[in-house]
Amino acid sequence: MTVVIGNQKGAPTEEVFPELTRDVIDRMSNAKSARLQEVMEVVIRHLHAIVRESKITQGEWRQAIDFLTRAGQMCSESRQELILLSDILGISMLVDAVDHVAGPGISDSTVLGPFYAGHQRELAQGDSILLREEASAPLVMSGRVADPEGQPVADALIEVWQTAPNQLYDVQDRDQPQGHLRASFRTDMAGTYRFRTIMPVSYPIPDDGPAGQLLTAMGRHPFRPAHIHFMISAPGYRTLVTHLFFEGDEFLESDAVFGVKPSLVVRPELQDGTSTVEYNFGLAREFNPGINRPPSFVAANNKKSRR
Ligand code: BEZ
Ligand code: FE
Repeated sequence: MTVVIGNQKGAPTEEVFPELTRDVIDRMSNAKSARLQEVMEVVIRHLHAIVRESKITQGEWRQAIDFLTRAGQMCSESRQELILLSDILGISMLVDAVDHVAGPGISDSTVLGPFYAGHQRELAQGDSILLREEASAPLVMSGRVADPEGQPVADALIEVWQTAPNQLYDVQDRDQPQGHLRASFRTDMAGTYRFRTIMPVSYPIPDDGPAGQLLTAMGRHPFRPAHIHFMISAPGYRTLVTHLFFEGDEFLESDAVFGVKPSLVVRPELQDGTSTVEYNFGLAREFNPGINRPPSFVAANNKKSRR
C-alpha cells in the first residue's frame, strides 16, 4: 500500500496517514480497563474513517467542535442537549436495540427521553394522574404486567408521564403544577394496572438549541407523535422503558427520535364518551441482578424552567 501523509491530489483517502490511526490505538496498551480499550479502539477507527471518507476540512472540523461546545454549554439540570443529539441521530434507539432483551412475551422498549423526573407520588388503581383540570378528551389506560410465560407480575412499579395539551411536560412549564400528568402505580396480585388521564398530543422536542439547528439543517421536523411514557420495574426483571403511541397520529412515520415500533401503537376504544386502551406488558427476566437498570444517568429534570 502507498502511504500518503498530507493531501496529495488524487490519493485515495483511505490511504491517508494510516500509521497515525495505528499509533493512537497502540498507545492504549496500558489502558486501565480492557472494555474501555476495546470500545476506544472502535471509536478511534471510526472517527478517523469519518475524516478520511468525508475529506473533512480544517474549517468544517472547527465548525463541528464549535457545535459540540455549544451543545455542552446548553446542558443544565433541566436541559440535556446531548441526549437530544443522541435521540435525533437514532443512537439512543440503536443502543436500546443492542442492549434490549427481546423475545416472545417480552414488550418492545423505546427511548427514555429527557423528561423522566424521578419517582413520583404513588396512586391507587383507577386514580387520575392530573393535578388540574384540562379541556381534553378523557382516557382510561389499563392492562396487565406479566412475565415471559404470561404469569402476572404483582407489585410491579409502573411509572407514567406525558405532556399537557399545550405540548409541554410539567418540568418544561412553570404554569403546570409539578407532578401534573406523571405518577406511579403498583400492579395488584393479578398484575393489573389502571389509571385515568387525557389523550396525549404530539409535540416538538426542544429545538431552540444546537440539536434543533441540526434538525433544520438536515431538513427534518422536530415533532414526536402523541405518546404516554411507561417505565415498569420489578425485582428479578429488566426495567422496561417504553411508550404507547396512538393510531392515526400524523407523526407516527416520522418521529423525530425514531422511537415508534408497530407493537407500541394502540387504538383507543370509545366507551360512554371516554377513550379506553387496554395494553398488556411483558417483562424480561434479569439474570444479572447486579445490574441497576433504572436510568440513573437521567438529568434531574425537576427544576422548573421552560425548555
Ligand atoms: C420524549 O418523548 O419525552 C422525548 C424523547 C426524546 C427527545 C425528546 C423528548
Ligand atoms: Fe415524550
